[in-house]
Amino acid sequence: MRKFFLLTIIVIAAMLVSCAGGNAKYRIGVSQCSADIWRDKQNAELKMGAYFHENIEMKFAAAYDSDERQVQQIDSLMDDGIDLLIVAPNQVQTISPAIDRAYDKGIPVIVFERKTSSQKYTAFISADNYEMGRVMGEYIVSRLHGEGTVLEIKGLEGSSPSIERHNGFMDAIKNAPGIKVVASLQGDWTEQRAYESTQQWFLNNKDVRVDLVFGANDRTAMGARKALGEDVLYCGIDGLPGESGGIQLVRDSLLDASYIYPTHGDQIIELAVNILEGRPYEKETLLMSALVTRDNAKVLLMESEEIMRQANQLESLHKKADNYLHKLDTQRIINWLAIGIIVLFIVVFVLFYLYHLRKIALQRERVVSTLWNMKPEDVPEVAEGGGDIERPEVAEDAEVNEPVAVSQFITRFKEVIEAHLEDSEVSVEDLAADMNLSRVQLYRKVKAVTGSSPVELLRTARLNRAYQLLLTSDKSVSEVAYAVGFTAPSYFTKCFKEEYGMVPGDVRK
Ligand code: FRU
Repeated sequence: MRKFFLLTIIVIAAMLVSCAGGNAKYRIGVSQCSADIWRDKQNAELKMGAYFHENIEMKFAAAYDSDERQVQQIDSLMDDGIDLLIVAPNQVQTISPAIDRAYDKGIPVIVFERKTSSQKYTAFISADNYEMGRVMGEYIVSRLHGEGTVLEIKGLEGSSPSIERHNGFMDAIKNAPGIKVVASLQGDWTEQRAYESTQQWFLNNKDVRVDLVFGANDRTAMGARKALGEDVLYCGIDGLPGESGGIQLVRDSLLDASYIYPTHGDQIIELAVNILEGRPYEKETLLMSALVTRDNAKVLLMESEEIMRQANQLESLHKKADNYLHKLDTQRIINWLAIGIIVLFIVVFVLFYLYHLRKIALQRERVVSTLWNMKPEDVPEVAEGGGDIERPEVAEDAEVNEPVAVSQFITRFKEVIEAHLEDSEVSVEDLAADMNLSRVQLYRKVKAVTGSSPVELLRTARLNRAYQLLLTSDKSVSEVAYAVGFTAPSYFTKCFKEEYGMVPGDVRK
């Protein structure tokens, strides 16, 4: 019984868990090398992209420019059982082994925006960083009319965009002998690091004139601006929309130019889903990009603000839908819970009822067998007419409190039956007459007290006697059958087998 309850509870709990969600079709892990506004924008787009597909679970990790942390995070994303890895490796060499591990494990890998030293990836998606450096170099040459000095602030040394932007820039100014790069400083992609490097350099080079700073991204350009002030031109890369983004900085003349470095998170998700669903996809995707100058900054800002407005609307729509689905889920859980409780109640009720019936039946059996086996001298005097049976049901504590009338009735009935045991012709009417009762009265009372009918008791008594005779006499089976009122030995054998689970002949073995 306890096992049954446990099973019912487990089934209900399983039903609840299954309708409480948690059944994502694809788990996509995103390993970002850093955390900044460019990454924030991209993560938001990745999430937004996932909204367009059912059952995608996104797991984000940010390494804050640490190789060690990123390797650990990739390993733990793998341990979490992701189906696909999207990764921007902090530096070219350092993260490759971890990415290779994922790839070798059969996890599809999308490398985006920063490269690895290995060929073990499923797809690569990025803008062309070399081209951005080159175009920016050409812009700078023309901005300075072919004559002037440039201070370069590079990104993180071992990261591919830093290397490629630098190479593109250097190639572009090669053909402009009037442009001189006074220094290439380390900026590590952060404003603070760029500020510190520039400040340090400036302290040692106070007499070196700088016309323009080329930052590998907008943040490093702004870091240099903090150190050198507003009399210098500043160019960067990223061209983010929104408050303090590169486009606004150009519009407000804090930067002279920037270059949009596309984030395109939604496109990356499309690529991921194509890979996961076995659809065709491009192994190398090149994202388009554009220079931001004072001439187009206003228009670009307007456009990007409109896109952001629509994205926000989409986001709030999605939140509403999410909320609604959540409510639906809760409702479903409540429904299942209610059904579960009702089922449990019904089960408990039925079990209790069956238990109760069984208990009554057992008590009856006990009462009858006690009385049936009682010696005549232990039984009180039989009242005229077999006594009056007042209680049709046997009470729960019948064993101790059964009225004397019940036991007298049983004993009397037993005597009547025993007197007729050998008589195969005896009928219930005959037994009833001996008890001074009508046939119906006898049936009702015997049934109420013993749970069996008079005929059944008569047959049981015949078989009991037969059993004794088989044990104590040397009568044959047929003789015993006739002696206890059976007219056909074969029918006797059948009844005997039903009662004792063996044939009469077996008693003597
Ligand atoms: C963001 C960022 C951008 C830069 C890119 C290079 O984390 O630093 O500013 O353009 O990474 O990978």
